[in-house]
Amino acid sequence: MDLCVIEGDGIGLEVIPATVEILQHLLPDLTLHPARAGWQCFQETGQALPDETIALTHQIKAVLFGAANSPSYPVEGYSSPIVRLRRLLKTHANLRPTTYLPVPAARAGVDLLVVRENTEDVYVGDESVDGDTSTAKKVVTRAATERISYTAYQLAEQAQRRRVTVVHKGNVLPQTDGLFRRVAFEISQYYPEIETDELLVDTAAYWMVKEPSRFDVILTSNLYGDILSDMAAAWGGGLGLAPALNLGEDVAIAEPVHGSAPDIAGKGIANPTAAILSAAMLVRYHWKMPEIALRIENAVHMTLEAGIYTADIRPENAFSTQQFTQEVKQRL
Ligand code: NAI
Ligand code: MG
Repeated sequence: MDLCVIEGDGIGLEVIPATVEILQHLLPDLTLHPARAGWQCFQETGQALPDETIALTHQIKAVLFGAANSPSYPVEGYSSPIVRLRRLLKTHANLRPTTYLPVPAARAGVDLLVVRENTEDVYVGDESVDGDTSTAKKVVTRAATERISYTAYQLAEQAQRRRVTVVHKGNVLPQTDGLFRRVAFEISQYYPEIETDELLVDTAAYWMVKEPSRFDVILTSNLYGDILSDMAAAWGGGLGLAPALNLGEDVAIAEPVHGSAPDIAGKGIANPTAAILSAAMLVRYHWKMPEIALRIENAVHMTLEAGIYTADIRPENAFSTQQFTQEVKQRL
C-alpha cells in the first residue's frame, strides 16, 4: 500500500505526522512517499505545487494532504495548491461528514454528509480585472453535475440514508445553479427510495444554524459546499474534528476541512482528529478496508469519550497533539 504525504504549511506539519503514525500502526506494510506543496514551498522553489509532486500524486493515487497557507490577495505565480490538485487528479467529489463526537460543543443528533462538487463553479479560478471591475467565472456543466449527483445518491444508498437535499441559488442564477438543480433532480429519478428536496443556499444556512439534524445528505456545488461544511463542522465540535475526502474514479485525497491555522501553528497543540478521521475515510472509500477505518474511528471516539481533549476542545488540562495521538494509538 502506497501513500503520498503532503504536510503543507502550518499545523499540517503537526497533524499529518500524527496521522501517519496511526496509519503505520494498523498498516505496517504502508509505504510513504513524501512530497511538498504550499506557501513555504512556493517561497523556496517558486512553485506552490511542484511538478514532481503532481507526478507523484498521479502515480500513487492516494494522497494525505495537510493544509496550505493561501494569501487573500493576488500573488504573481501563486494559486491554492489543493484546489489545483483536486482538479488535476479529477477528484470530482468532496465528501464532508459531520457526525456526533463526544465533545462538549457537539450537537447530539447531527449526522449529515455534505457532497460537494469539487472541480468547477467559481473554483475554476478564472478571474479577470478591467480597471476597477473584477470578474470571476462560474462554471457548471451537465457532465460534472451528473457525476456528483450519482455519487451523492450512491453514497446515500450505501449508507442507508433517507434524504438528499439539493442546495443551490437557482432563483438568482437560473443558468448555472438552475442547471445544477435540474440535473440533480433528473438523477434523483433513478433513486425513488430516497427522498429528494431542495433549499436555496441562504435558507440552507439558516437551517444549518437553527436545526442541523434536519439534514441528511446535502448535494451542492463547490462554493456553497465549502461554506456549509464549515458551518456543519461547528456542530461536530469544531474544525479540529472535521474530516473530508476528495474522491475520484481511482484516486483519493484525504484532507481535513480546516486550514493551516497560523494562530496556533508550531505550538504542538493542534487537534489531529480531523486529519486522522480524513485518513480513515481514505481507508474506507479508496482502499476499501472498512474494518480498519472503523478501528481508527472507534479509537478516536473512545479517546474523546475518556475526556482526552486538545486545547481547541477544552483549554484546561489540554493534551498536546503528540499526547492525544498516543492516546488514540493505545486504543486502536
Ligand atoms: P483555519 O481552518 O486554518 O483556522 C480557523 C480556526 O480554527 C483557527 O482559530 C484555528 O486555530 C482553528 N483550527 C483549525 N484547525 C484546527 C485544529 N486542527 N486544531 C485546533 N484548532 C484548529 O482557517 P483560516 O484561519 O481561515 O485560514 C488559515 C489559512 O489556511 C489561510 O491561509 C487559508 O487560505 C488556509 N486554508 C487552507 C485550506 C486547505 O489547504 N485545505 C482550507 C482552509 C483554509
Ligand atoms: Mg473551507
